[in-house]
Amino acid sequence: MTQIELRGVQKWFGAVQVIKDLNLSIEDNEFIVLLGQSGCGKTTTLRAVAGLETIDEGDILIDGKPVQHLKAADRDIAMVFQSFSLYPHMSVYENIAFPLRATRMKKTDIDKAVRDVAQVLRISDLLDRRPSALSGGDMQRVAIGRALVRRPKAMLMDEPIGALDAKLREEMRAEIKRLHVKQGSTTIYVTHDQIEAMSLADRIVIMHEGVLQQVGTPEDVYGHPQNLFVAQFVGSPVMNVAPAAVSDSAGKASVTVEGAGEGFAFPSELLSKLNGSAGKPLSLGIRPEGVIVAHEAAEGFLPAEAHIIEPLGSYDIVDLKFGSQMLRARTRSGFVAKAGDRVFARLDPTQTHFFDTASGQSLGVKL
Ligand SMILES: Nc1ncnc2c1ncn2[C@@H]1O[C@H](COP(=O)(O)OP(=O)(O)OP(=O)(O)O)[C@@H](O)[C@H]1O
Ligand SMILES: [Mg+2]
Repeated sequence: MTQIELRGVQKWFGAVQVIKDLNLSIEDNEFIVLLGQSGCGKTTTLRAVAGLETIDEGDILIDGKPVQHLKAADRDIAMVFQSFSLYPHMSVYENIAFPLRATRMKKTDIDKAVRDVAQVLRISDLLDRRPSALSGGDMQRVAIGRALVRRPKAMLMDEPIGALDAKLREEMRAEIKRLHVKQGSTTIYVTHDQIEAMSLADRIVIMHEGVLQQVGTPEDVYGHPQNLFVAQFVGSPVMNVAPAAVSDSAGKASVTVEGAGEGFAFPSELLSKLNGSAGKPLSLGIRPEGVIVAHEAAEGFLPAEAHIIEPLGSYDIVDLKFGSQMLRARTRSGFVAKAGDRVFARLDPTQTHFFDTASGQSLGVKL
């Protein structure tokens, strides 16, 4: 059982505040991913939980008990870094056994613990090797093994697979997930890769410049981003965002995207749902899969011209020009034959987001 809680955590480096009033409750066994751009404070947060960094204000609690006064070694938390720094002169076996050698554990128990962990990580056949004879992925498995072998209260991982090539990263991602399902431990995992975050997390914590932006399941942050930062940080290709105006057109809602000419037809309930925001400058957000493309004109569709087509194998991303406004659409591969083609498109209301342009906050409109 390990719960971790951060309450009002603040951290300065000199005059620069790098963590701003961070509040977060992590459940037992939960896999939390801290996601954000370089410099947003992910590593600092992780190091603060591990006890490798002090905090200036707030509390960090493990299982309900404040731990600031505890040294890293007394917090019983394991950390895995991007640079895995195995001991080069030791075998894989000794590298994994190392954290247990300092304890009073019996030799036979250490042996069993090392072999169990090696089996879970599928590196049993590598135990006699030196790190120099391992692939990058295997080295990282050993580093994870060394962290796991103590059966720590929690695992903290800082971009543990960031240094590996794309294919190996994908493999290791699946491996880490499998391991978490099998072993189960409260985990905080840091990455700036949103695909990694989406695929691993029970809940994603998105940070920007030291400020927590949103906490939610992958579906939640993807489907209901709370602000423009999250909307454009999560998802690839990024969500289209454009200034928009909503008007009443004979009882129906019409959404005019700046530069796009005519309005897109929307269900009339949009008018009442936006009532409180009347007059405020709005931004419309829609992911490429929410822009629906057709070859024939139909009600609710506006004409557009295909500008650039990016074939991505199983689908295409097509830049569509509506007047002077560009919106990216996702289509079946080959659906739009070539740049310059005239097509028709509409916006799927259920996938359209509205934000207050000034604050960037979502208006929470669901259609
Ligand atoms: N020891 C330090 N002294 C001064 N400033 C620091 C120190 N460590 C980190 N910083 C600054 O604090 C901010 C947050 O750094 P942090 O390492 O937590 O970011 P990060 O989100 O992990 O970034 P990255 O993705 O690049 O690893 C950055 O602006 C960084 O320059
Ligand atoms: Mg970092």
